[in-house]
Amino acid sequence: TVLTADRMLNVDDGTVVSDAVVVIEGDTIVDAGKRSQITVPDGADTIALGDATLMPGFMDMHVHLTSDASKHGYKRLAVSLPRAAITGVKHAKDTLLAGFTTVRNVGAPGFADVALRDAINAGDVMGPRMFVAGPSLGVTGGHCDSNLLPFEYESYSDGVADGPWEVRKAVRRNIKYGANVIKFCATGGVLSKGTKVGAQQYTLEEMQALVEEAHLRGLTVATHAHGTSGIKDAIRAGVDSVEHVSLLDDEAIALALEKGTYFSMDIYVTEYILEKGEEAGILAESLNKERVVGQRQRDNFEKAVKAGVNMVFGSDAGVYPHGDNGKQFARMVKFGMTPMQAIQAATINPATLLKQADQLGSLQKGKFADVVAVPGNPLDDMSKLENVQFVMKAGQVVKSQIN
Ligand code: ARG
Repeated sequence: TVLTADRMLNVDDGTVVSDAVVVIEGDTIVDAGKRSQITVPDGADTIALGDATLMPGFMDMHVHLTSDASKHGYKRLAVSLPRAAITGVKHAKDTLLAGFTTVRNVGAPGFADVALRDAINAGDVMGPRMFVAGPSLGVTGGHCDSNLLPFEYESYSDGVADGPWEVRKAVRRNIKYGANVIKFCATGGVLSKGTKVGAQQYTLEEMQALVEEAHLRGLTVATHAHGTSGIKDAIRAGVDSVEHVSLLDDEAIALALEKGTYFSMDIYVTEYILEKGEEAGILAESLNKERVVGQRQRDNFEKAVKAGVNMVFGSDAGVYPHGDNGKQFARMVKFGMTPMQAIQAATINPATLLKQADQLGSLQKGKFADVVAVPGNPLDDMSKLENVQFVMKAGQVVKSQIN
């Protein structure tokens, strides 16, 4: 198959290639670049997209495909595990059709994300490549526990683990049941009941044990952290990415730069929480926390971008509707990124974070043919990325609305 378009983004060097051709054999890109420099094989199937821009498939590093954005708080308690898994099938399709050909699923009860990933890989259902965490690890009563029921119903989330050896064991168990990334909660959060956003939950000692265990086994680690001390201890412990990163200080930025830690800052979701959250069941205390955190996170996003921290696109879709992931692009530009930087944050940077840059993240010879396109030039108007019109995953066209 040969794809042609007036433009292609080279996210490796941040340039725009005009009059572009991508040559695909099976699931792999065999050549990509300017038409004058490419030998197009005779008799290839050509998909000519005209005035459109070819880009690598997008990668969202923070989703919860088995979570339904219309059910939060006590509404979510009524959703069974099998029901959540089935919901995930629909969300996987919505996500892929929005141009996200790879996601990192950072937390799902009951290993429903493992089941979904395996079903996608087996070709049973349609969806993005998934890197999955299984249940997020967290302290008793912390952001990654379930704190909605009183003591007499004693219930805990699947990933609760306290102390260095318990967290090591929890990492080992998650790997045993199919996780290929590890997610844990270092601080309180917005949507959990009774937790303080700024307060640290795991100690540095616990985080060091957890990260060491995951790295020994070759897995990368994503950390939920809003509060400053939790962000810093997570970076010191050697996590690969920090999620949310709302209440940064200069030392946290310096540590991230020193360690090469990635920040995944979900700066769109605040709009959905404040507009639609109450109706969806988000607790009043969570709405109040969001009112405090949202703008500070956006200001700190700008600071981190200016300082040159490694940034990846992470939306927290699942809190808001799957398929709307792309709404975050325009906000990333509004809060300090160039359009090219925002697209790199959703392509080559996540591929590097996940140690998959040999296979994913750019339109280069030898990588998987994960390709998306929009009409016109998205660098002039990032809202075009909210409406991706051509999607190919591993050489298979899954959506084609151009022409
Ligand atoms: N899952 C996150 C939490 O509960 C969502 C935070 C959303 N708010 C934000 N401003 N990014 O903490």
